[in-house]
Amino acid sequence: MQAISSSRVAGAPSMLEATNLSVVRSGKLVLEDVNLRINKGEFVGIVGPNGGGKSTFLLTVLGILQPANGSVTVFGHNPQNVNFNGNVGWVSQSAASIPTKMRMTVRELISLGTLSTSDLFSFRRRKNDEVVERALELVGLTDLAEMDIGRLSGGQRQRAVIGRALASNAELLIFDEPLVNVDRSSRNGILKLLDDLCHNENKTLLMVSHDLTAIRQSAHRVIYLDGQIQYDGSPSEIPDLSGLAGLVGLQHVHSHTHKEEE
Ligand SMILES: Nc1ncnc2c1ncn2[C@@H]1O[C@H](COP(=O)(O)OP(=O)(O)OP(=O)(O)O)[C@@H](O)[C@H]1O
Ligand SMILES: [Mg+2]
Repeated sequence: MQAISSSRVAGAPSMLEATNLSVVRSGKLVLEDVNLRINKGEFVGIVGPNGGGKSTFLLTVLGILQPANGSVTVFGHNPQNVNFNGNVGWVSQSAASIPTKMRMTVRELISLGTLSTSDLFSFRRRKNDEVVERALELVGLTDLAEMDIGRLSGGQRQRAVIGRALASNAELLIFDEPLVNVDRSSRNGILKLLDDLCHNENKTLLMVSHDLTAIRQSAHRVIYLDGQIQYDGSPSEIPDLSGLAGLVGLQHVHSHTHKEEE
């Protein structure tokens, strides 16, 4: 069922490329012969069953895991050989559950995003202030800038963490399950934010989610990963994804728990 991906931004520069990529973890072949190319400005959703290799793929893109075969490049470079210096933003689910007892304001948390290794010794304070204000604005937290992060709702906290990634000015933003534990209205707000980042800021987004409804309503392209790429194409052109999903345990989170939405 391998499909040629219909890139929204044909001709745009390539941000990420995997070529015949295989990854082995503890002697087990987790990713096999993965081939894909993601261009600047694309919003790509990655779905698949538990253990299908989604997080493994992200860790390989970040240079933390090494290919057993083939290669992956980000901005044309092997991620293991370069320091992306804030060019790649990473928002994990656990990042949203930052300790609520930590005394820190939203502005302080977002400011942490401006710290990159090259800046550590030449802290350009003025420029950073502007970047932080812009990030606050983009995630809609300007009014809550001085609030303690412990007092934020789950959705607001997730926005703050996204704001921290934005403050790094990353071109490529990677999200691993950003919507878990986020209620429906916050979820829709976050999806709108991601969509805006893509269209207005020309960011490239890669989002892993089990939330098919969310992927359908936001991503331009869906990759179904189960060891290998089982599907790569438009979210609207996967009529049998629900059948496929049913077979391998992917959840239609919202069709079950939020019927009123449909
Ligand atoms: N640290 C590890 N060492 C060895 N094998 C691992 C390790 N982490 C994960 N694996 C194995 O790699 C495979 C893929 O795991 P991965 O975490 O990439 O899946 P996933 O698609 O992200 O799943 P989920 O939807 O549950 O997050 C699984 O079979 C898992 O058991
Ligand atoms: Mg995972």
